[in-house]
Amino acid sequence: MAENNPYDFDQHVDRRNTDCDKWDKYKDTDILPMWVADTDFRSPPEVLDALHQRIDHGVLGYGHAPDALTDTIVARLAERYNWKIDPEWIVYLPGLVCGLNLTVRALTEAKEAAMTPCPIYPPFVSSIKLAEREICKVPVALKEGRWLIDLERADNLIPKNTKLMMFCNPFNPGGTVYRREELEEVLAFAEKHDLYVCSDEIHCDLLLDEDAVHIPFASLSESAQKRSVTLIAPSKTFNIAGLGASIAIVPDPDLRRKFVRTRQGIVPSLNVLAYTAATAAYHHGQPWLDAQLDYLRANRDLVEQEIATIPGLELQHIEATYLAWIDASALPVDNPFAFFEEAGVGMSPGSDFGNPNFVRLNFGCTRELLTEALRRIRVAVETL
Ligand SMILES: Cc1ncc(COP(=O)(O)O)c(C=O)c1O
Repeated sequence: MAENNPYDFDQHVDRRNTDCDKWDKYKDTDILPMWVADTDFRSPPEVLDALHQRIDHGVLGYGHAPDALTDTIVARLAERYNWKIDPEWIVYLPGLVCGLNLTVRALTEAKEAAMTPCPIYPPFVSSIKLAEREICKVPVALKEGRWLIDLERADNLIPKNTKLMMFCNPFNPGGTVYRREELEEVLAFAEKHDLYVCSDEIHCDLLLDEDAVHIPFASLSESAQKRSVTLIAPSKTFNIAGLGASIAIVPDPDLRRKFVRTRQGIVPSLNVLAYTAATAAYHHGQPWLDAQLDYLRANRDLVEQEIATIPGLELQHIEATYLAWIDASALPVDNPFAFFEEAGVGMSPGSDFGNPNFVRLNFGCTRELLTEALRRIRVAVETL
């Protein structure tokens, strides 16, 4: 393929010397960086063009959300996810983790508890701890090869003062896409215990199974809408995480007032480049995204095929995200993360998510790099 073809995801982009978290962690080593959740792909050309134009204007003073961004979010949620929202429900944030923290602080009081699935993307736990709320970890269990929050266990586990349920769909780290009946059960649980729900849906555009459908939790019913904060972002979808553009959707006016008040004076508005990139991505990024999804799907298939043939490793089918949650508990090693890092593959330690027997592999990279990482993993296991 021609150089700079935006749809050539095989093209290696050198990220060294760009102050990049993922590659700098293993600077000057032979360890392949397969950890933090961004991809090694260049963003859609339309996004880069829009950024160039904005920079060329030369004045980068204070800005506000362009109407075109709000309009495209409203249209996107209606068209792709069958959820009709009012533009007023949108609160822009310079990062999704900031939305997790704000939600905990806005919707629970001191001495109240919040529940989170576990294992889970680490800021779910830290947002509750940083707010000094009581934390209740509810296990995620395997059901017919899919990782799902165990609501039966949750029923007995959650303390009476629980006010908030943190929820992640598609699920990081397990890659599950919750189906309607499963979401209905989550809603029934929230209703039974009168909980608010913070639904992190950042990976909703990254569905790898052709027949998977993302259903926003809040779109289930009036009750789901009233009790929820939904968090989405173009950051994973279009690989613009470093710009910090995220969106909270808070339909209930009382919840929104609390949310906005908690943010006030502490959380800045988005920077002007983030607005520009997000608008261009949502408006023009779809053909690029479709091509990226094809590429990620093939990467996912490769990871699943390879891991299935390495004794001692287990991986469930990944319905969404570019993250593989690999069970290494059958390996005779104390610390699978350190073991594979030593073998030249830098994954995320499962301990960060709540289970040290797992590692999380980020396959948002060129096939060449992924193939080499999988080869190293195989060779390392064979030496045991
Ligand atoms: C589930 C989930 N939420 C939030 C984030 C991070 O969002 P941000 O970088 O916008 O804070 C990630 C990134 O990996 C994620 O996987």
